[in-house]
Amino acid sequence: MSPDRYAVVGNPIGHSLSPRIHTLFAEQTGQHLVYEARLGDPGHFERQVRGWFREGLRGLNVTVPFKEQAFRMADFRTPRAERAGAVNTVWSETGGRLTGDNTDGAGFMRDLVERLGFAPRGQRILILGAGGATRGLLAPLLEATPARLVVANRTAQRAHDLMRSFGDLAVSTRLQASGLGDLPEGPYDLLINATAAGLGSDRLDLPAGLLAPGAVAYDLVYGLPAEPFLVWAHAQGASRVTDGLGMLVEQAAEAFAIWRGVRPDTRPVLAALREETLSA
Ligand code: ATR
Repeated sequence: MSPDRYAVVGNPIGHSLSPRIHTLFAEQTGQHLVYEARLGDPGHFERQVRGWFREGLRGLNVTVPFKEQAFRMADFRTPRAERAGAVNTVWSETGGRLTGDNTDGAGFMRDLVERLGFAPRGQRILILGAGGATRGLLAPLLEATPARLVVANRTAQRAHDLMRSFGDLAVSTRLQASGLGDLPEGPYDLLINATAAGLGSDRLDLPAGLLAPGAVAYDLVYGLPAEPFLVWAHAQGASRVTDGLGMLVEQAAEAFAIWRGVRPDTRPVLAALREETLSA
């Protein structure tokens, strides 16, 4: 029997770790599948994706820059995809209609809570950035009832817009928005860098004293681009700093569990990737 086919679509897509991650999940769980990277065509994205599913594709992950397009083209969307305004996981229902989900927020929360041992309840959180990445995190973070959550963005208006659209979820959380230049005073127990910027002299310029003792600093990107921010956070007294590789593996595990009905153990996969990316 030929294996079930899955793919990730992006542009560019050459360096995607998703094929490696899903292949390791499949080996671990004994699932008979192939998972490959496919280059998306910005001009014909929907036609391309529907064609792949007609040819028998079972599931698709979606990455930059297509998450909003995937959201718009999905025939059905899960509530968490609706909240995020973006789709990163697609599968086909009977009749060829496509369901879009978003596993990024769940993946982030699992990495934060399970691996890092950070429970958001009652904590003070600062998120830098108000783009698609932040939008994906806000619902699960607010549902975990932190005491305070500040969204700070270079363009302050975008942070205020996000605050308004998620205000209904801030039941026991003080939700605030600001620009990067007028950050509300800390300290914060969790600092998340969800901007596309690293932390260099011409990029993010954060004041000292933002972090509470024992704080966690989390950059959503992984590898070298995350390093300046994490080095800065460490020097500011963060006790745990991490890049986004754990989130990447967890959002993949969430998609794999939806598609295959079995949840892989992410720990050995994260460890293998760390080793492979370090030695690359
Ligand atoms: P993503 O989906 O990764 O969140 P995005 O929606 O394009 O991507 O958002 C990028 C985020 O990085 C935004 O918050 C952006 O700030 P603006 O809304 O002001 O553009 C932020 N960003 C990008 N470059 C930045 C820089 N040099 N300094 C600070 N923030 C930056």
